[in-house]
Amino acid sequence: MTTATAQLSFGDTQALDASLSDNVRGLKGSEILKIAAAVREMIAQGKQVCNLTVGDFNPKFFPIPAALREGIARALAGGETNYPPSDGVLALRKSVAEYAAREFNVRYPVEGVLIAAGARPILYGTYRCVLNPGDKVVYGLPSWNNNHYSWIAQANAVEVVTQARHGFQPTLDDFRPHLKDANLFCLCTPSNPTGTVMEPGVLRELMLGVVEENERRARAGKRLLFVLHDQVYASLVFGEARHVHPCALVPQCAPYVISLDAISKSLAGTGVRVGWVLAAPAVVARMRDFLGHVGAWAPRAEQVAVADFLGNTQALAAFRQEMDAKVQALLNALYAGFMKMKQSGLPLDCVQPQGAIYLSLQLKLIGKSFEGRKIASNADIGQLLLERAGMAVVPFQAFGLREESGWFRLSVGAVTPTDIETCLPRVKALLESVR
Ligand SMILES: Cc1ncc(COP(=O)(O)O)c(C=O)c1O
Repeated sequence: MTTATAQLSFGDTQALDASLSDNVRGLKGSEILKIAAAVREMIAQGKQVCNLTVGDFNPKFFPIPAALREGIARALAGGETNYPPSDGVLALRKSVAEYAAREFNVRYPVEGVLIAAGARPILYGTYRCVLNPGDKVVYGLPSWNNNHYSWIAQANAVEVVTQARHGFQPTLDDFRPHLKDANLFCLCTPSNPTGTVMEPGVLRELMLGVVEENERRARAGKRLLFVLHDQVYASLVFGEARHVHPCALVPQCAPYVISLDAISKSLAGTGVRVGWVLAAPAVVARMRDFLGHVGAWAPRAEQVAVADFLGNTQALAAFRQEMDAKVQALLNALYAGFMKMKQSGLPLDCVQPQGAIYLSLQLKLIGKSFEGRKIASNADIGQLLLERAGMAVVPFQAFGLREESGWFRLSVGAVTPTDIETCLPRVKALLESVR
């Protein structure tokens, strides 16, 4: 056998790229990654940055549960290294069904549970399993990634701008104009990017609207309307807010609800890659066949370990309590700091933390100036914050909103209380010098 010495040459990059599919070439890159690159550069220059951009956890502050980590190592050592079943390891599907019954008061049969490598394959699978090209999908703005999945599925995406006074969550009235001809409604609560939780009354009204519409469609022999219900942040809910599952509120909506969850956020296991869907068995069967071809299974050893951990209610509760308190303390520190600035007359607003790892902050700086420079857009504000206050945040434009209204997402998964404490006075000083 000889060893190759010269590296292969790949020719004209542009010609290669131009030969790829229109679909993949039309995909938009992540705005957040662009901001992350600017943050990295500032840190490399030795500047202090409170990085509130990443929707992830720093494993030093938010490690996965020790019992889960040990369980994965044990399962690997025990030889759990071959293909898992395409719908997931049976013990995990059972464990997830029990978990859903305990946590959300909904009882799914094991055939209504499908395991995948995190929540993303389930999102992708839902779009592909429900929608034909040109079908209508409706979601509220700001929204996390529905625009990308709509593009991939060649769906007709209808984006409805939500209101701050409704906690940036859509209502039945927002979706009503599309009730008659939509194929998929998308909900995300607690929400990425806004950190808000849909009120149970609003969710109930929406689901009753969907049930009524589907009864009409069933009589007319038409395709049904589905609801993609993203609850990956369900375990992170604070204060007065309450997370409820749509099928616990309106059991008649069970055939139409495709509910996704994962350990990515609830157990800080974004890199562990275990997620699941709860849905009607007929939907799950199609998604299993579809995702089987993608090979989007969660690794077998991790499935075995998660099955055990979800069943260990004591360890789960202890982990939750600690993690939720940490997330809540970080969000509250930001919220309290900004509210103090607001009370002192600075031009901002902030939504009280309700859930997830996010805070919505509005900086009302558009049209004002800093050192003679006009502030014309959210991007201008973000740049100013980064350069002059060492605070990195993501504008709602990264989540589809076009209106330049000064709203930003702040994520606390990768910062410490000290980062926040030292950053807030810098922001205050900056806001005080804006004219
Ligand atoms: C609302 C929401 N849904 C789904 C996901 C995807 O999660 P996973 O990492 O399990 O693919 C994320 C990740 O940030 C998210 O914020």
